[in-house]
Amino acid sequence: MCLTHTLEAASQNEGMPPFAQELLQTINHGATAMAISIGHRLGIFDTMREKSPATAAQWSARTGLNERYIAEWLGAMATAGIVTMDAEGRYVLPNDHADFLGAEAPAGSMSSMMQWIGVLAPVEDEIVKCFREGGGVPYSAYPRFHEVMAEESAGTFDQDATIALVPGLDEQLEEGISVCDVGCGRGRSIIQLAQAYPRSHFTGYDLSTEAIADARRFAAGLPNVEFTVLDCMEMTDRGRFDLVLTFDAIHDQPHPDKLLSNIARSLAPGGVYIAQDIWAHTKVEDNVGHPMGPFIYTVSLMHCMTVSLAQGGVGLGAAWGEEQAISLLQQAGFGSIAMRRLEHDPLNAYYICRS
Ligand SMILES: C[S@@+](CC[C@H](N)C(=O)[O-])C[C@H]1O[C@@H](n2cnc3c(N)ncnc32)[C@H](O)[C@@H]1O
Repeated sequence: MCLTHTLEAASQNEGMPPFAQELLQTINHGATAMAISIGHRLGIFDTMREKSPATAAQWSARTGLNERYIAEWLGAMATAGIVTMDAEGRYVLPNDHADFLGAEAPAGSMSSMMQWIGVLAPVEDEIVKCFREGGGVPYSAYPRFHEVMAEESAGTFDQDATIALVPGLDEQLEEGISVCDVGCGRGRSIIQLAQAYPRSHFTGYDLSTEAIADARRFAAGLPNVEFTVLDCMEMTDRGRFDLVLTFDAIHDQPHPDKLLSNIARSLAPGGVYIAQDIWAHTKVEDNVGHPMGPFIYTVSLMHCMTVSLAQGGVGLGAAWGEEQAISLLQQAGFGSIAMRRLEHDPLNAYYICRS
């Protein structure tokens, strides 16, 4: 059946094959994700929250955005069921939808993650080329990567839940210990920790000069945190830490095994390493039915795996999975490894590791 016939069948509800219906939903959802991302970036959802129904012209006035663009965007949102429209052509964002949309979403922003589609789309041509010629796409090819990554980690980092993974860690941090965040990006997590625990000292390492410059700017004035540009493949003889943290920063390294060994060696006696990383199983067949499987593999294909390959690395991929994670941690020299999942963060696993 050609697409024209398929669309006609859909519009006339003539028993379109279920798989073709699914494909139509896929393109609808992909397009909706892009439009949600635009609404998120422009703050439209935050403006619409708890506001009375209004026409496109009125929403244009309320948001200060171009009326023609707002009208078309509301068309996408209304047909996708994100906003509702009444008989007078007025649009409203239902409260139970507003809970998850916008930077200030009360139940946690899900519009934030839609930005990944726009972050990845610009490298499609380069990924197609890599399929034919091998190699990878470097970090520098993703203009908004660190901005969107920092926004995602702000949503997944729960300070209390993370510290509570290790009994007694809160007291140690209160007394004063040395902490390192490896592959820290813009460093939002350790800046938050540095504010909460002024007697402890925090160090953030990252390969990206841009991310480290942003981290230093965000931390301005905090005396107990420092950021250094460092290729963590070379993270040897950089001192010993009582606590090492990685947030989503192992699977996209060039050589994750080498980094894990470096981290194991950097722990002071009695020290602990907490690794937050994507939760999945290692085998594809065990990930069929994973609620975020297609998202994880596609982000990996278009970012995590390819940035590792671009550094001459192994391209482990985001779906390296808990079985391989535990095996790599053991090989790196960790004798005690516990894996935990946290309720607020269904995307990730947390590995608590000691020598
Ligand atoms: C997925 S991001 C996570 C960033 C940050 N931890 C967060 O959660 O927002 C992975 C980070 O690892 C950094 N990275 C990649 N390869 C690295 C290397 N060889 N040495 C140090 N950092 C590296 C990247 O620049 C990036 O900031």
